[in-house]
Amino acid sequence: MLIKRPADIRSSEITDKKLYLNRRDFVRTAAGTAVAAATGVLGAEAFLRAAEPAVHGRKLANVQKSPFSTTEKLNTWEEITTYNNYYEFGTDKESPSMLSRNFKTEPWTVAVDGECNKKAVYHLEDVLKGQVLEDRIYRHRCVEAWSMVIPWVGFPLANFIKRCEPTSNAKFVEFTTMYDPAQMPGTRLPPAFGGLHWPYVEGLRMDEAMNSLAILGVGLYGEVLPNQDGAPFRLVVPWKYGFKSIKSIVKIRFVMKQPLNTWQDQAANEYGFYSNVNPDVNHPRWSQATERRIGEFFKRKTLMFNGYGAQVASMYAGMDLKKNY
Ligand code: MTE
Repeated sequence: MLIKRPADIRSSEITDKKLYLNRRDFVRTAAGTAVAAATGVLGAEAFLRAAEPAVHGRKLANVQKSPFSTTEKLNTWEEITTYNNYYEFGTDKESPSMLSRNFKTEPWTVAVDGECNKKAVYHLEDVLKGQVLEDRIYRHRCVEAWSMVIPWVGFPLANFIKRCEPTSNAKFVEFTTMYDPAQMPGTRLPPAFGGLHWPYVEGLRMDEAMNSLAILGVGLYGEVLPNQDGAPFRLVVPWKYGFKSIKSIVKIRFVMKQPLNTWQDQAANEYGFYSNVNPDVNHPRWSQATERRIGEFFKRKTLMFNGYGAQVASMYAGMDLKKNY
């Protein structure tokens, strides 16, 4: 994700040269201070070391093939585990691979709350009990106009939702990420340095959450999910921009009103609630018509609903997708 910076007008264009040079000195000093401050918060490691691919983890047993998988060329383990968005572990793509290494994902619980009959705090093992794990190879399109093809392992979100027995009042599902400043250095960053309002929150409309493409991801390449990819479990919603796919979930709440998701809260004119991949609706600061697949040189055309229209377009029939971006 990209955070809005002050206007992109060069100060040399609007200020006389002497003032401009003084300002440059000031900016250089300020930038040094910012790096020093961020180094203090994130740790020198984030600045001194290159991203490292995740170490391989436990193999997941009995993973079934899914008819929803694409046959496109996969991105590599290294690409998928070194190029991440996970602001709790830093605002750049490389930091999560380094700073999430010691994040503790066991034991893990998830609180189910709101408009449902089965409110409880579930251990992850209970969430997984009886679920058939599937290999879901999905296109993953980020709002920043890059994409990957990722072999997730997961199970339909609908299967877990049914177990929670939502009532007829439940119109939306709200998801919340773990918030633990002691373990998540990115959450200690003040907003001026790229910090968000924590915890990270996302939401889906009930029918979106029940769509068979929406999964809870617990693995990658047949192995348990690496920390930088959202361990121990995350949402994967392949027809929407990547930011809807919230990581490391600790709370699932059934609600009557549309939740305010983190990026909408951050910049409502840039990031909406629906965030369906749509080549016809540009981000205010860049085009969404094309994307760069990580590992490829030439850009490719972005597909409506990221190519999943056959499974999802009917949910938005009659809606103005320019307004509901
Ligand atoms: N979830 C949390 N908790 N924090 C985040 O910063 N980033 C989102 C999403 N889920 C994010 C998150 C964004 S912007 C994207 S593109 C995807 O995760 C990136 O997933 P990946 O790192 O597995 O590619």
